Amino acid sequence: MQEQTETLFETQFEEEVHTGLTDYPKHLSSKYFYDEKGDKLFQDIMNMSEYYLTDAEFDIFSTHTEDITQLFSKNSKNFNLVELGAGDGKKTKILLQKLVDNKADFKYLPIDISQNVLDQLSNSLKNEIPEVAVKPQQGTYFEALEKIASLTNTKKVILFLGSNIGNLLHPQAIEFLTQVQKLMHKDDLFFVGFDQKKNPQTILDAYNDHTGITAAFNKNVLARINSELNGNFDLDKFLHWEVYNPETGTAKSYLVSKVQQSVAIGKLNLNIHFTPWETIHTEISQKYDDKTVEWLAEKSGLEVETQFTDSKNQYKNYVFKKA
Ligand code: AVI
Repeated sequence: MQEQTETLFETQFEEEVHTGLTDYPKHLSSKYFYDEKGDKLFQDIMNMSEYYLTDAEFDIFSTHTEDITQLFSKNSKNFNLVELGAGDGKKTKILLQKLVDNKADFKYLPIDISQNVLDQLSNSLKNEIPEVAVKPQQGTYFEALEKIASLTNTKKVILFLGSNIGNLLHPQAIEFLTQVQKLMHKDDLFFVGFDQKKNPQTILDAYNDHTGITAAFNKNVLARINSELNGNFDLDKFLHWEVYNPETGTAKSYLVSKVQQSVAIGKLNLNIHFTPWETIHTEISQKYDDKTVEWLAEKSGLEVETQFTDSKNQYKNYVFKKA
């Protein structure tokens, strides 16, 4: 019989950093880009002209307002608008304002793991769009969705915006979509942003801006290891590198060691060695086409009800229902 080994790690971050940096090839998850500094860098990315995704989703909300509002209100007088990972709600505020203008009868239920984020969002909504009834839900997506699904039969429209799904590999995306599907009722809708395949250069530019904001965003995971796990990464000794495969639609980000070097991570009692040009894979940003999205939907027990495209045909919001 195998003896149970004691866990050596206090947090999931510690465990994943240990696994990722002792693996070959090395990898670190992009979910660790986000702390206060990372959140700010992501805001800056969304304001960059190269990062077309945010404008494209704004464009969809502005252009297709009438259709979106009608769709959300279809078959029921009122609905709950549930958002997975609302963040600062910047994108959603456009949609909320449009729904208010169109006199839709709805409550907004943003879900986030951080109570702080939810408090800030509620306060800013109180000032900016006071007509919106907000009921923040603190917790993981599925805990909160489960609670909402068990408490009320009111129609749910679930939002997952910004091509956040693209940071998941296909098998993980299917698992995620399936979990949401299981918590949906017949008339519920699932409104998801999927960035589309396009000129590969446009994609490379979006993830490799010349001002270096995206590089700093990727390197923030190393900065976090330094400050939170007592590491000594020299960020200047790593190069941010982006590749895009137009066949699979996968954009991949790497941090590449420019030199031979060793890095100590005190909290993990770990010394990591890098050969020159050795890589750490940090992020995937998947791009899609209709066939792939239909395949993902089918594998997840969902059906595409309709879709909305921006005026430059760069990005789509697909609306799913339970199959
Ligand atoms: C949050 N996520 C959808 C962004 C993306 O496009 O993959 C994160 C990002 N990474 C680099 N730029 C933006």
